[in-house]
Amino acid sequence: MAIELGKSKSIVGRSPKDIAKYKFKGTGYIGKVLLSKGEKPVLGRKIFMDLSKPHLVLVCGKRGGGKSYTMAVMLEEFARLEPEIKNRISIITIDTVGIFWSLKFANKENEKELANWDLKPAETNVRVLVPKGKLDFYKEKGLPVSGAFTLKAAELDAVEWMALFKLTWKDPEGVLITRVVDEVKKKLGSYYGIDELIAAIKNDAESTKLVKQAMINRLKVAKTWGIIEKEGTRLSEIAKAGEITVIDVSAYRQAVGMEGTRDIIVALLGKKLFEERMLFRKEEEMKVLKGQKRESAMPIVWMLIDEAHMFMPKDSDNLALQVLLEWVRVGRQPGLSLLLATQRPNKLHPDAISQCDLFISHRMTSKPDIEAVAALRPSYLHQDFDHLYAEMPKSKGYALIIDDNTEKIWMVKIRPRFSWDAGVTASAFTK
Ligand SMILES: Nc1ncnc2c1ncn2[C@@H]1O[C@H](COP(=O)(O)OP(=O)(O)O)[C@@H](O)[C@H]1O
Ligand SMILES: [Mg+2]
Repeated sequence: MAIELGKSKSIVGRSPKDIAKYKFKGTGYIGKVLLSKGEKPVLGRKIFMDLSKPHLVLVCGKRGGGKSYTMAVMLEEFARLEPEIKNRISIITIDTVGIFWSLKFANKENEKELANWDLKPAETNVRVLVPKGKLDFYKEKGLPVSGAFTLKAAELDAVEWMALFKLTWKDPEGVLITRVVDEVKKKLGSYYGIDELIAAIKNDAESTKLVKQAMINRLKVAKTWGIIEKEGTRLSEIAKAGEITVIDVSAYRQAVGMEGTRDIIVALLGKKLFEERMLFRKEEEMKVLKGQKRESAMPIVWMLIDEAHMFMPKDSDNLALQVLLEWVRVGRQPGLSLLLATQRPNKLHPDAISQCDLFISHRMTSKPDIEAVAALRPSYLHQDFDHLYAEMPKSKGYALIIDDNTEKIWMVKIRPRFSWDAGVTASAFTK
């Protein structure tokens, strides 16, 4: 069904019923429709995206195709939502590369291109939070950090400690940490850190000296990560209403053996947000039943994850996988939206592809990846996927948008960013 709101603007991600009811309220301007192909593409109507209702959005495309750029455009639009809508949403971005801080700076270099779109460079207010133990790392690089966060040790169960250290139930260290976590929880409740675990291991009578030492060494390494502490940052500090929070985990990118740290951050954050939203959803429903406004102390949440195949792999396990699958399968009901960006849809868990309601794809050339998303092709799409990619202009920023909400498909050019792009490909040339 075609949705015509006059010829100049259209909305993706919003059902025809909601378009009639809310019009453009709570949407963001993301680009323009491509009208003609060839060397000098002609652009047509503006495309707006719904940002106010829960969605599962998948952003695909090969490396350098514009995925992170498109995410940045969306973050700029979240920041510019009408206050009464914005203040009901909390936006959290998991930044694995360390690029979204640059939203804070206006894109002066892009002034000309922005002017072609009748837009101007502008800064966007984002909060950049980094793991507490890595604060110096970011400060040395001169990155504009807004604050630090930690995870609460007591929130990690034995399975999570084991996963962090790649241990199994069969490993003697796995047996030891399971026993010790249990013991410490009984003795100290929810107020303990790595030091208390080490002390308990020293007192353990059942494991051998060697096993105990091996486990202590691992915990000492975990301490240097500077993320797991007695006292964790409160969820309400991280998921603030009306705020765009960038959780920068890029410090753990190069460090061997620390990938688990990045995963546990996403896993614990995802788990807590899910649990809290479930509770608050009940509170909201009660209010509606009593004839009051649908309101609770906790905002609905959008989580945007760049390089999502890292956390939701198809063929391997990951600490965050089960948590994110919950978001994918039932998150929309309690108001949890997820945007997943990946250059490897073929490596992404298939549920993330089949469940998405808004599919945004930049250029893709790898056959297995195209095939992986072709599996999502809804019945209203009577075109061949390869064909659609072949028609996409080669220059950056073009995307195919397949929208289940309106059952429409668009070829779009994503608008230029207001803010500076820190993701520009590194090059050996200095000029
Ligand atoms: N919509 C766009 N308009 C203009 N340039 C773009 C656009 N999208 C991407 N680019 C350019 O392409 C580069 C790579 O995009 P990026 O989003 O970092 O790729 P990906 O995340 O898919 O690897 C950007 O640094 C930018 O220079
Ligand atoms: Mg990227």
